[in-house]
Amino acid sequence: MTSETQFKAWRVEEQDGAYKGAEQTLSTRDLPPGEVLIKVSYSSLNYKDALSASGNKGVTRSFPHTPGIDAAGEVVESATGTPAVGSQVIVTGYDLGMNTDGGFGEYIRVPSAWCVSTPAGWESETAMVYGTAGLTAGLSVQKLLTMGAKPEQGKVAVSGASGAVGSIAVELLAKLGFDVVAISGKADHVASLKELGATEVVGRDALAEDKKPMLKPAFANAVDTVGGTPLAELLKQIQPGGSVSCCGLVAGPQLQTTVLPFILRGVNLLGVDSVEIPLAEKEAVWNRFASAWKCPKAEASAKQIGRADLDEALKAFLKGESAGKIVLDHAI
Ligand SMILES: NC(=O)c1ccc[n+]([C@@H]2O[C@H](COP(=O)([O-])OP(=O)(O)OC[C@H]3O[C@@H](n4cnc5c(N)ncnc54)[C@H](OP(=O)(O)O)[C@@H]3O)[C@@H](O)[C@H]2O)c1
Repeated sequence: MTSETQFKAWRVEEQDGAYKGAEQTLSTRDLPPGEVLIKVSYSSLNYKDALSASGNKGVTRSFPHTPGIDAAGEVVESATGTPAVGSQVIVTGYDLGMNTDGGFGEYIRVPSAWCVSTPAGWESETAMVYGTAGLTAGLSVQKLLTMGAKPEQGKVAVSGASGAVGSIAVELLAKLGFDVVAISGKADHVASLKELGATEVVGRDALAEDKKPMLKPAFANAVDTVGGTPLAELLKQIQPGGSVSCCGLVAGPQLQTTVLPFILRGVNLLGVDSVEIPLAEKEAVWNRFASAWKCPKAEASAKQIGRADLDEALKAFLKGESAGKIVLDHAI
């Protein structure tokens, strides 16, 4: 297909310093240059999409813009032949949905180097049920495993546990045999977090600011998805030699800590980036989720929405009220 195609996209415009998203009809000629044109079936909702849609210039510099930092669908044009026309692909990260029009449109055009083959046996929908959040949860857990984390070492904490990244991290760690302590600000999510496999659910006050420089070790390892003060408090509670993987900033980008967890207990702080890493690292995580790491509860509990529901769903992210995985289905 080389002709122009009209399609629908949820487009954000700036009006007098305010940002508003609405459905618009665009043409494939409006898309940026790139080797691969993809008909997008599904995208997933991420905190970064909420930042983009609300005009955060650290994420998206200029508007109008179509957010959507991930997408899954079928290749309809391919200048290089790889991936092939007709193949199913996943695109996450790099510049998608930031300053390149993203998955909240029915078509995207991207470099071939951004495309991963959808694992055999997966539909595009399954790929986006995991989405960028699942990829990030997988990378966070992989970092702990690479550092030698083992269930017999003790409890593993997950902060922001009810969120998109946190909920998949809880299910995956539980599946791998870890004793998972879910840390959540949502009292009404205790049952659902236990259902995902958490053995214990504690409130966010477990990571409230404490003036003491170090605290009793409570966790062998942790996946932190929130950053800020909770991460600083988590580091004080990790047992000797343990690790904390860190991917998020919903509680703030600042990290005010001391060197004490590092020099007294040998704690490891592991950064997680799902955006710019080599494609092969992303592919390895997708293939694990399609086999040994399958998370059936996350797959079953994901919520599907249409473009008309995006505004409300993205606002919930910014208020910290979003829970679990939300998938944009372009057919709704
Ligand atoms: N490094 C990467 O490549 C990468 C990739 C994807 C996402 N991220 C980042 O990871 C973070 C989580 O993303 P997500 O998609 O899971 O977001 P999300 O669905 O909004 O989940 C974040 C969770 O954090 C908790 N939370 C919200 N505000 C908080 C606050 N002020 N203090 C403490 N906890 C708070 C809430 O869980 P509870 O109510 O259960 O506490 C919320 O559900 C975001 O910062 C996102 O930008 C990074």
